[in-house]
Order: sequence, then structure tokens, then C-alpha cells
Amino acid sequence: MAFFKKRTPEKEPIVIDERLQHIAFIMDGNGRWAQRRGMQRPMGHIEGMKSFDRLMVHCRELGIPHVTVYAFSTENWKRPKPEVDTIMNLLSSYMDRGINELEENRTAYHFIGDKSGLPDKLREKAEYLEKISAHLPLTLNIALNYGAHSEMVHAVNTLIASGKTEVTADDINGALYTAHSPYPDLLVRTAGEYRLSNFLLWQLAYSELYFTDILWPDLSNDQLDDIIRSFYNRNRTYGGLKGGDKGAKTAK
Ligand code: IPE
Ligand code: IPE
Ligand code: MG
Repeated sequence: MAFFKKRTPEKEPIVIDERLQHIAFIMDGNGRWAQRRGMQRPMGHIEGMKSFDRLMVHCRELGIPHVTVYAFSTENWKRPKPEVDTIMNLLSSYMDRGINELEENRTAYHFIGDKSGLPDKLREKAEYLEKISAHLPLTLNIALNYGAHSEMVHAVNTLIASGKTEVTADDINGALYTAHSPYPDLLVRTAGEYRLSNFLLWQLAYSELYFTDILWPDLSNDQLDDIIRSFYNRNRTYGGLKGGDKGAKTAK
């Protein structure tokens, strides 16, 4: 008797179109990935960085114009120093790779958050990478020492300093760290937490949210493809009705 392998139906190839201009990630679960293997938490960040590298290559290959990742929050300084040091060292090496692979990555880097709170060398490297990559076509926003509350306070103070006494939603948007990117169409959070943890609170007003239990180091390219397919099956109505006006503009 012949055995035939059951064929899984072919999945639709992903074609990135105007519906998905910006995807944001809360890269969560590195610590648990390590702890479940009996390893120290910093090992999880090393693995998380590999996942980040791989998934960013995948996003580039898919041609997603804007990607934003939550790498380190204003609250993450509460963690033990060796863990914070590991994360900062990984980010420093990441920036070195970005500098060395500049043109092939086709990516303009933006480090969003309060750079003044970063170690001097890391801040200088981040600013250098931003400067030399500014002409490249894809955008990667890396939220580093980022908190949405501190971003909004910074935006309001910038507007006050420019002489404004009254503001519009466009003014606020233009003063946020993400002024150069459209609002995220899709937010993905890994590791089974259903919260935003002070991430892009203004920008996510009408984003589609996707939560998965998969830990960040385990999120595969195929799983991301499935998440994107499920995004394309969503119906975004922005408070209107199906098939009505599209666009994430909110009332002012
Ligand atoms: C996310 O993973 C990475 C950072 C916050 C820097 P975590 O380190 O929060 O992993 P868990 O949530 O403890 O598993
Ligand atoms: C959010 O994850 C910050 C980053 C992914 C960088 P956290 O693990 O710090 O958030 P909470 O503590 O679960 O809210
Ligand atoms: Mg976490």
C-alpha cells in the first residue's frame, strides 16, 4: 500500500500593499525564553537579538516601508544592571552592524525615545547611524529609552518652546518622535501579555492589535507571514462602516 503525504494547501504569497505601510512590534518574552531553559535572563536577550535580526531581514524582503520595534522602555532601567548592560551591549553591536551593512540594508534608522538618557557612546553611535542612513528608502524606528508618556511630554514642551499656545492633532503628531512615519497599521505583541506597556499610545489609536503567546525569540518568519495574512482579513472601519472612507485620521 502506498502512503501519500497529506498535502497542506499552498498559502497565498504575501504582497505588501498600501494597507500595510507600518508594522510595530513589542518584542516581549526574552527573559521567559531563557528561564524556561534554565538559563540566565541575559541569554534570552542574546536569542531575542537573533530573532530581531532575522525578522527585520524578513520585513525588508517583504518590503514593509516602516517598521517600529520596542527595544528598551523608560521603565526597563528598573531591571538588574547585568541584564540592562547586556541589552545595551547588544544594541551597540547591532548599531555597528548597521553601520557596516549600511547600503545593503536599505534602511534609515531612527532611534526614538529620550537619547539624552543613554550612555554617551551609545547615543553618539545611534546619532551617527541615523545621520549616515537618512537617505535610505526603508524606515526602522527602534524605541530605545522610549515611553509614550515621556514622548508626549516632550512633544508638548517642544510645541510650547516654538511659541504655540494652542495646538492641533497635526501639531502633536509632528512633534512626536515618529513624525516621519505614518501611524502603525498593525501592532504585534509576543509572549502573551495583553497590554501596551507605554508604547506609542497616540500612534496606535486605530491600529490593528495582534497578541500571540509565542515568545519573541521563537517567532518565526512563517508565523509573521500568518499574522500579516490575518491582518489582511481584518475590516478596518475607523468608526465608519465597512467600505467607507479609509484613513486613520482622528477628529481634532
Ligand atoms: C522583552 O523581553 C525585552 C525587553 C524588555 C528589553 P523581556 O525581558 O521583557 O522578557 P520577559 O517578559 O521577562 O519574558
Ligand atoms: C515592554 O516589555 C518593553 C519592551 C518590549 C522593550 P516589558 O516586559 O518591559 O513590559 P511589561 O513589564 O510586561 O509591561
Ligand atoms: Mg517582558
